Amino acid sequence: MYVYVCVCCVTVVQSQVTLEVTEGNSTCIKAELSASFFITYDTANGTRTVMVPLPGSAVVGVASSCGGDGRSPWLVALFGDGHALGLGFSSNDSLYSVANLTLQYNLSDVSNFPEANSTDVVTVETTSVGMVARVNTTYRCISASPVIVGGATVTFSNVTMEAFMTGDDLSPNESVCTADQSFTTAPPPPPSTTTAAPTPVPTPPGTPSQGSYSVSNSNGTVCLLARMALQLNISHFSASQNQTIQEVVNLLPNQTTSSGSCDPTSATLVLTQGNATNLSFLFTLNSTSNRYHLTGLSVVAAWSDMTGPFNTSNSSLDYQRGSLGRSYMCISEQTLVVDQNFSLNTFQLQVQPFGITRGQFAQAEECQLDQDNMLIPIVVGAALAGLVLIVLIAYLIGRKRSHAGYQTI
Ligand SMILES: *[C@@H]1O[C@H](CO)[C@@H](O)[C@H](O)[C@H]1NC(C)=O
Ligand SMILES: *[C@@H]1O[C@H](CO)[C@@H](O)[C@H](O)[C@H]1NC(C)=O
Ligand SMILES: *[C@@H]1O[C@H](CO)[C@@H](O)[C@H](O)[C@H]1NC(C)=O
Ligand SMILES: *[C@@H]1O[C@H](CO)[C@@H](O)[C@H](O)[C@H]1NC(C)=O
Ligand SMILES: *[C@@H]1O[C@H](CO)[C@@H](O)[C@H](O)[C@H]1NC(C)=O
Ligand SMILES: *[C@@H]1O[C@H](CO)[C@@H](O)[C@H](O)[C@H]1NC(C)=O
Ligand SMILES: *[C@@H]1O[C@H](CO)[C@@H](O)[C@H](O)[C@H]1NC(C)=O
Ligand SMILES: *[C@@H]1O[C@H](CO)[C@@H](O)[C@H](O)[C@H]1NC(C)=O
Ligand SMILES: *[C@@H]1O[C@H](CO)[C@@H](O)[C@H](O)[C@H]1NC(C)=O
Ligand SMILES: *[C@@H]1O[C@H](CO)[C@@H](O)[C@H](O)[C@H]1NC(C)=O
Ligand SMILES: *[C@@H]1O[C@H](CO)[C@@H](O)[C@H](O)[C@H]1NC(C)=O
Ligand SMILES: *[C@@H]1O[C@H](CO)[C@@H](O)[C@H](O)[C@H]1NC(C)=O
Repeated sequence: MYVYVCVCCVTVVQSQVTLEVTEGNSTCIKAELSASFFITYDTANGTRTVMVPLPGSAVVGVASSCGGDGRSPWLVALFGDGHALGLGFSSNDSLYSVANLTLQYNLSDVSNFPEANSTDVVTVETTSVGMVARVNTTYRCISASPVIVGGATVTFSNVTMEAFMTGDDLSPNESVCTADQSFTTAPPPPPSTTTAAPTPVPTPPGTPSQGSYSVSNSNGTVCLLARMALQLNISHFSASQNQTIQEVVNLLPNQTTSSGSCDPTSATLVLTQGNATNLSFLFTLNSTSNRYHLTGLSVVAAWSDMTGPFNTSNSSLDYQRGSLGRSYMCISEQTLVVDQNFSLNTFQLQVQPFGITRGQFAQAEECQLDQDNMLIPIVVGAALAGLVLIVLIAYLIGRKRSHAGYQTI
């Protein structure tokens, strides 16, 4: 049993920003919102993720327009040192929506992107934004809602917004987003008890399915093999429940790709499931003892109920210890605790990060759990064998006695 402690939650004070697109005397788009950006970028020694808030000083850019002449309404907010957020709107007779979101960030801004190895201006775009409202109503979404766009995640909160406006003020009629609806219709939470333990998600997933993964050298030879079923257990702040929850999610092998690298004394396996989950394993080999183990695990998860990407790693682990030239096997469930908010459950696992020949697993070294589990049948078997032996001996002695008995008659 693990006790999860909630070390809650870095609350960032966010500015509420008001943006208005006007043409002539009339306003066509009005938005009051908070937004923050999680952006992953390259540095000379690896990638780094930073959080950049949309500052209160953001202004509406001249590229904004109310549309017309076949063009769509377009809201562009400029902020900081050459960054921009753009929202394009579309509508039909009954609904309007954010048709696309564009984020532009300037990596030469060292205050937000320290040690970036590039000075490029990066532009990313997505068309799945999920903001829809009825025409002539104000879109309202107090709940934080993340939008994944390229290597970044934009998290909106406290949004009131209307496009295709017919008056100068936001319509008093509202289209409330689904996340807020689940708030208002949910029964009031019970008075909070002393512990801040995360609430487990009511429906835990079943046992995960096993996937087979491999990593190849630059010359195409397989240098790392793994087959395993994986389950991620993350404590995070839930946007819909407005509290920290513990969410258990299976990695789906048929949506997961593997990549990685192999060096003489270290090997990495990176598993990527769509844009939602990215899991990295780091194995190291001690070339003195010719033994390897799993030293590092890192995860980036952007799940639908999160208020921002979850991101953690630990590079001083000591799991899955095996010998060079052997594979490591653990059929039993094993829980790899990475930190207080993330642990990885493994099932039906076999890995070999070093010394692969002919692209196949070498002989396996079984984990202690499997050995213990195997011990039970062995003990039972031995006890049964002993019993059979005792019965047999008793029978033979009895037979000998009775033979002796007959002979005396
Ligand atoms: C803006 O409003 C003023 C006064 O209300 C009016 O004189 C002017 O014609 C309007 N301009 C446009 C483009 O509607
Ligand atoms: C990169 O390496 C430099 C020098 O070794 C170090 O100062 C810096 O903190 C490192 N940056 C990251 C992101 O690890
Ligand atoms: C965003 O969507 C609108 C409406 O569909 C479209 O007119 C506009 O070109 C799109 N913008 C970009 C940058 O794709
Ligand atoms: C408007 O668009 C939405 C989806 O964008 C669609 O479900 C709806 O049927 C459309 N309504 C009309 C009147 O075309
Ligand atoms: C920045 O670093 C990444 C990997 O760390 C590398 O792929 C990329 O080419 C580098 N870019 C520049 C401009 O040096
Ligand atoms: C929206 O409001 C405008 C002006 O008040 C009106 O012409 C239009 O029919 C309304 N549309 C809907 C779908 O209510
Ligand atoms: C992942 O993000 C990329 C880039 O934004 C996008 O093209 C792709 O459709 C996304 N995939 C999924 C499964 O959401
Ligand atoms: C939401 O925005 C309004 C103003 O638009 C502000 O008064 C309110 O404090 C904000 N709420 C939160 C939770 O930030
Ligand atoms: C190429 O493959 C051989 C084994 O077939 C291996 O010993 C060698 O290190 C590989 N070379 C590189 C550059 O990966
Ligand atoms: C979330 O919960 C906190 C404290 O439990 C409360 O102050 C806040 O108003 C809640 N936010 C929403 C949007 O319900
Ligand atoms: C992926 O596997 C799951 C069960 O493991 C199955 O339900 C789902 O249909 C599969 N999806 C695809 C795209 O094959
Ligand atoms: C490698 O193994 C040797 C012998 O077991 C041990 O003395 C040494 O500390 C290990 N090295 C590392 C880096 O763990």
